[in-house]
Amino acid sequence: MAGAGEQLENLIKQHVASCPPERPYTFVEVGSAGCVSLRAFADIIKDTRGGAPWRVVGFDLPPGKAWSVDMNEVKRSFDGLPYQLVSEPTTALPEGMSLCLMDNPRSYLLNTFPFPIDFAFIDGCHGKCAGRDFLSVEPKVSMGGLVAFHDYGEIEQGTDWQAHCREFISVRTYVHRLGLAAPCVTLRKGWRFVGEAFGSRRSGGDGNSVAVVQRTTEPLFPQPELSLD
Ligand SMILES: C[S@@+](CC[C@H](N)C(=O)[O-])C[C@H]1O[C@@H](n2cnc3c(N)ncnc32)[C@H](O)[C@@H]1O
Repeated sequence: MAGAGEQLENLIKQHVASCPPERPYTFVEVGSAGCVSLRAFADIIKDTRGGAPWRVVGFDLPPGKAWSVDMNEVKRSFDGLPYQLVSEPTTALPEGMSLCLMDNPRSYLLNTFPFPIDFAFIDGCHGKCAGRDFLSVEPKVSMGGLVAFHDYGEIEQGTDWQAHCREFISVRTYVHRLGLAAPCVTLRKGWRFVGEAFGSRRSGGDGNSVAVVQRTTEPLFPQPELSLD
C-alpha cells in the first residue's frame, strides 16, 4: 500500500473524527492478505476514535486459495492483539479486529454482513473484480461513507497481470465504467469522486495510487444504466 499512504491516513483520520461515537465505526478491507495494512488501518482508527467503538474487518480467500495469505505474517501483523478469525458467513462479528477468510467474501458482504460500512478499502484482484467488490459493498456504505480503490493510478493501468480476471491492472476502467469518476458520461447516483491520492510510481517509486469516492445520497438500486459488462 506504499505511496499514497500518508494522504490516505490523513483522510481516514478526518473521516473517523467526523463520525458519531454512538455506533461502531466500521472499516473493511477486501484483499487483506497478510494484514499488514489492515493492522495499520486498525491502529489509526482505534487511536482516532478515542474510547468510541470501532470494527475493522479484513476479507480474503481461505489459505490455499488466497494468493498472498501467509498465516505467520497474519500473526505477526496482529502481534498478540485479539482478533476473530471467521470462515463462514455470520452476523455475529464482534467489535475490534476480525479476519474473514472465506470462499466468497463478496456474497457474504452483499447478503449477510449486517453492519453499515463507513470505509471500504478495495485491494483484492485488480481487474473487473475491483468493480464487483465495489458492487458488493455499495448497498452497505453509510451516508458520507468512503470507498477507496487501490491501483487506480494511470501509470499502473496495463501493468501486473491479474491472472484471475485474465487482464492487466484495470481498476481505473471499472471505476469509470461504474460512473464513479468524471471521465464517464453518466455519473453514478449517490456518489461523488473525492480524489486520487497519488502513489510514488509517478516519480520512480513503486507505490500505487488510490482513488476515493463518497456516498452522498441514498442511491437507487439497482442502477440498471451502469454496469461492468
Ligand atoms: C494485492 S493483495 C492485497 C494486499 C494487501 N491489501 C496489503 O496492502 O498488504 C490481494 C489479495 O486479494 C485477495 N483476493 C483475491 N480475490 C479476492 C476476493 N474476491 N475477495 C477477497 N480477497 C481477494 C488475494 O488472495 C490476495 O491476498
